[in-house]
Amino acid sequence: MLNSTEVLKELQDMRDHGFLSDALMRHAVKQIKRADTRFDWVGVYMVNKENTELWLHNYVGKPTEHAHIPIGEGICGTAVAEKTNQNVPDVSKVKNYLACSPHVQSELVVLIRAGDEIYGQIDIDSDELNSFSAELEAEVQAVADKLAEQIAAERR
Ligand code: SME
Repeated sequence: MLNSTEVLKELQDMRDHGFLSDALMRHAVKQIKRADTRFDWVGVYMVNKENTELWLHNYVGKPTEHAHIPIGEGICGTAVAEKTNQNVPDVSKVKNYLACSPHVQSELVVLIRAGDEIYGQIDIDSDELNSFSAELEAEVQAVADKLAEQIAAERR
């Protein structure tokens, strides 16, 4: 289980030492990937300037062909279009699902946002069904919120 307290502390330490969001997002992805063996792929996607697509920022896991995802498409694009996290226990039930790997069975997308402004998202794929509890989603959200704090500071 991911314990966000430790990761939040590490991310704040990085901020205090002057690291930018790029480094923070890479660190967060690595730490989330390490937290649970059921997390087979973890990455961050960022919304592009035009607000039309998600662009893959960094990931841990096997390479994916989905480096760019139009807003509104797949689980990732739907999260941005609907401005809500997506916790999908069984991806085979999702109509416009974009397969990253044929083995993936469940997926969690947590938005990196400041209110209505969506910067991007943390995406976790699992090769098992039903891998993401509401508690886990809340832990990932805490990490995403910390990333949003730094991104907002850089865009001011
Ligand atoms: N499954 C996602 C695509 C991204 S990959 O999982 C890395 C989706 O349906 O949007």
